[in-house]
Amino acid sequence: MNGQTTDLAALEADLLARVDAANDETSLEALRVEALGKQGSISALMKNLGAMSPDERKTFGAGLNVLKDKVTEAIVTKKAAMAEAALDRQLQAEAVDVTLPPVRPRLGTIHPVSQVMEELAAIFGEMGFTVEEGPDIETDFNNFTALNFPPNHPARETHDTFFLDAKGEDGARKVLRTHTSPVQVRTMLKQKPPIRMICMGRTFRKDSDATHTPMFHQIEGLVIDETSTMADLKSVLIAAIKAYFEVDDVKLRFRPHHFPFTEPSAEVDVGCDKSGGQIKIGQGDDWLEILGSGMVHPNVLKSCGIDPEKYQGYAFGMGIDRLAMLKYGMPDLRDFFAADERWLKHYGFSPFLLPGLAQGVGS
Ligand code: DAH
Repeated sequence: MNGQTTDLAALEADLLARVDAANDETSLEALRVEALGKQGSISALMKNLGAMSPDERKTFGAGLNVLKDKVTEAIVTKKAAMAEAALDRQLQAEAVDVTLPPVRPRLGTIHPVSQVMEELAAIFGEMGFTVEEGPDIETDFNNFTALNFPPNHPARETHDTFFLDAKGEDGARKVLRTHTSPVQVRTMLKQKPPIRMICMGRTFRKDSDATHTPMFHQIEGLVIDETSTMADLKSVLIAAIKAYFEVDDVKLRFRPHHFPFTEPSAEVDVGCDKSGGQIKIGQGDDWLEILGSGMVHPNVLKSCGIDPEKYQGYAFGMGIDRLAMLKYGMPDLRDFFAADERWLKHYGFSPFLLPGLAQGVGS
């Protein structure tokens, strides 16, 4: 009997050590079956009880029960610890730091031309301008005739026009619009004054070098009411250019010029500083031509069904690509349309940053 008691102590030590050493649920379960299952070592010892004397059976049986309980409890405890450790591991693996900034989906970047258009829409929108649109393919009437370009006049030639085979209702060949000015015509034909609009979009001319591409972008502005003058034009342009270049002050210079659709007409230069090898817009001893403008010609108003005796106003047109180059420092216009992902990554803007005046349009 002593021998059997010793056996029990050894068995207990062995089983508890193995429970302790088990490192996954499968080996723990195998151990449970080996010790407590029907064919297990403890059950085998139980079977010996029948052959023992009542005294022996009593002591040995009690010892066996204690052993059985101890091993069962050890296994249950170990199982619970394993489950808890597994849960800990899972929680750690799936941990999310909610204080981290969100992971942004790969959406690509906003092209600088689109960005500048958004900026200009925010700036002029704030000043009460609506945004109008027109098609890339225009009639000769809208692109030239209504804008007071006389038929066969050399001014038409200076636009290096792309003519299409298709003819418009006016019987003349349609054109890829050479400027956004035909949207002035479209707006005046559909809306009575007061008009205060901008239009932005693609324009086309046969031209190609570092600062000219056959397709480029313009912004057009038009204000028609009973009182607006060149002075209003100047103050609107100063406010817009200050906001766009995010500078405190700009000086503008109006140089007499000729456009068929304005009288008087002016080209506008902005003061700048080129001394540091980099152009700084606003102040300085240099000038940079940035736009064409003037008072809308009475003939244009007439062509659009607006009485020039009653109404007047100003218009202006600017190259958007050039505005982008000046603000964001791209040296070559042709890169704008090369669809090179590296260029877009470098010069592009986050789709999540909507330009607005509160934070500065370019930020
Ligand atoms: N349409 C002219 C161009 O492309 C630019 C321009 C000049 C627009 C004077 C205007 C303006 O509205 O008044 O060269």
